[in-house]
Amino acid sequence: MTRTFRAPGRVNLIGEHTDYNQGLVLPMALDLATFVESAPNSAPSLKVHSEHYRESREWQLKTIPRLEPAGDWGDYVAGVARELLRAGYRLEPRSLSIRSTVPEGAGLSSSAALEISCALALALDQPVPPLELAQIGQRAEVEFVGLPCGIMDQYVSVFGREGSALVIDCRNLERKYVTLPSEVSILAVNSMVKHSLSQSAYRQRTEECADAARRLGVSSLRDVSPSAFEAAAVTLPEAPRKRARHVIEENGRVVRFAASTDPWELGSLLVESHRSLQRLYEVSCEELDFLVDTAVEIEGVFGARVTGGGFGGCTINLIRAGCEAGFSETIECAYQARFGVSPRIYRCRAAAGAGEITTS
Ligand code: GLA
Repeated sequence: MTRTFRAPGRVNLIGEHTDYNQGLVLPMALDLATFVESAPNSAPSLKVHSEHYRESREWQLKTIPRLEPAGDWGDYVAGVARELLRAGYRLEPRSLSIRSTVPEGAGLSSSAALEISCALALALDQPVPPLELAQIGQRAEVEFVGLPCGIMDQYVSVFGREGSALVIDCRNLERKYVTLPSEVSILAVNSMVKHSLSQSAYRQRTEECADAARRLGVSSLRDVSPSAFEAAAVTLPEAPRKRARHVIEENGRVVRFAASTDPWELGSLLVESHRSLQRLYEVSCEELDFLVDTAVEIEGVFGARVTGGGFGGCTINLIRAGCEAGFSETIECAYQARFGVSPRIYRCRAAAGAGEITTS
């Protein structure tokens, strides 16, 4: 029997580069998603076809515990299969077919959508507790693909809820659903840029944060209050000091964002977050700064910032409902005139988390 599973991408509204510091994040799942059809396979193997890449992979089931990463899209699937086995789940011979509406390299978390949809398509009727499902996806990425990411993307892909964003406390892994004021819309603008240094820079940022925490005598930056940080900041070298300041202040912005219903306050928190990612965390780039600087001058825009890991991908823009068309036209023309590239624009609606969508 063929069954189909869906897992969404996400935008992060605020709380960037805080998840691997046990901090707070505030993402929402999107109606852009990855779909995996899972069919029985007569051979004792796992077959996978990617519609996007028009490529297939096949692994004998018994070799999965010993697989090595190949450095391509198949690693996400193989990594999830390996983590399911490690966690004590069984793998049946299956044939998976993957298609996705989440753009790749846009900072909308196509990788978590792939991991979670594949994990469901492989676990089938074995119930995996939702938090464990998210952790299996994260471990596949950290331990097999090799990117030391936090839990945000996989968590929101599992726990997303239609009409709501969620505050995730990445220390105790608890969540609280929040809704945005009805007069605002969120648009993501894709810079169409993906800088090759994003993975190495991401790893470097995680190391700089760990270094700052060590120097401050705590196990993670979550344990440093703003006043304790101010008192100790002078003792830190420049890089860990700037990274730590961003993380500590960003956690505070998530709390203020979650507590506010004033669109102007929400918007100015987004801009503050962007400036901090630009100047302190240094994960922005010329194209993203241009998109934010341009957006905030457009009528009906409350605020904007980069979303996701940075070094390209999307900005998110908090806009007065009804102003979407004018905003899109203006930003598209400006970006085209400046960089000769047309940005793709996505209307972001909060969608439900992952699950099975059909049984035939
Ligand atoms: C990527 C990672 C997340 C998170 C963000 C930055 O999307 O996968 O875990 O660290 O970057 O906030």
